[in-house]
Amino acid sequence: MSKSIIFVCLGNICRSPLAEGAAKQYIKDKGLDIYVESAGTGSWHIGEPPCENSIKVAHQNGLDISQQRARQVKTEDFEKFDYVIGLDDSNVQNLKNLGCKNVLKLGDYGYDGKDVPDPYFFDGFEGFDKVFSMINTCTKNFIDTIKN
Ligand code: 4NP
Repeated sequence: MSKSIIFVCLGNICRSPLAEGAAKQYIKDKGLDIYVESAGTGSWHIGEPPCENSIKVAHQNGLDISQQRARQVKTEDFEKFDYVIGLDDSNVQNLKNLGCKNVLKLGDYGYDGKDVPDPYFFDGFEGFDKVFSMINTCTKNFIDTIKN
């Protein structure tokens, strides 16, 4: 049976779209049967494409995330998805507050449990490449743990 993952950050315009893009590419490359979406806990950016710098860093790494559109996480997602993964501690806490019982944290899969920093508040593009490599590494490691 197919497995499913939802990556959740705050706005669903910077970090979780990168996780969705990286995961979908890895799943495709490996020929796996895993369904992936992303969402934000906030409602500010519903319907918007990912932020320009996330589209840019994704493109530099061979991924096109420009067609993604932000949505807000909903409680039905906690039933629908096998794995709910927050990008930082505040995302994990927000998800728990919404009633999600089995929240995972992306940084636990290769970055010592660290938060993926929120690049929305970065000054320009600098730092997006680090955020991308953290997300890319942990996303692949996580998929490796569930693929069989
Ligand atoms: P994200 O970044 O959670 O990585 O998508 C953010 C985007 C927007 C806001 C916060 C974080 N915001 O406050 O609007």
